[in-house]
Amino acid sequence: MADVLIRKASPEDVDGLLELYRQLASSGELPNAGNAAMVIELIDSNPWMLYLVAELDDVVVGTVTMVIVPAVTHSAQPWAQIEHMVVHEAHRKTGIGHALLARCEEHIRSIGGYKMQLQSSNQRDDAHEFYEREGFSASSVGYQRYL
Ligand SMILES: CC(C)(COP(=O)(O)OP(=O)(O)OC[C@H]1O[C@@H](n2cnc3c(N)ncnc32)[C@H](O)[C@@H]1OP(=O)(O)O)[C@@H](O)C(=O)NCCC(=O)NCCS
Repeated sequence: MADVLIRKASPEDVDGLLELYRQLASSGELPNAGNAAMVIELIDSNPWMLYLVAELDDVVVGTVTMVIVPAVTHSAQPWAQIEHMVVHEAHRKTGIGHALLARCEEHIRSIGGYKMQLQSSNQRDDAHEFYEREGFSASSVGYQRYL
């Protein structure tokens, strides 16, 4: 893999992030850059969330968001939900997605977490192969109800 830097997202990354979300079919309508930057700042100030970007030659080429869920079950260990994982289409299959997930794993392990989970649309066969190579298994059925 080229010299990719994995770091926390900041409001200055807003344009790069919006471009990545345009490449993620499930992003829905996107906000303007000002509103998006405010949300990035809000996430950054939330200790129960981790918002990462992958940077290559000063360009944002990948991102993932992790939500940490505190819980009383499983000896009160937290777990993590992975969301909005996307790598720029010009840089896929070069190890960036793996590097983003590895940083998520490092973080949830460091706070005693026991599980990472995610949902991925039935249409995303490519992404499913990626997640299975990353050690995830489709062991449960996900349900959603849009409001
Ligand atoms: C899914 C996605 C995030 C993977 O990121 P990536 O940077 O391309 O993945 P990596 O290069 O780190 O790949 C890690 C491993 O998965 C494999 N892999 C990646 N994409 C794959 C694919 N489409 N089909 C099969 N295997 C794949 C790689 O070959 C690699 O395996 P290896 O370690 O044996 O070489 C990226 O393809 C993407 O952004 N897709 C579009 C958005 C999307 O579907 N996001 C997921 C929403 S749930």
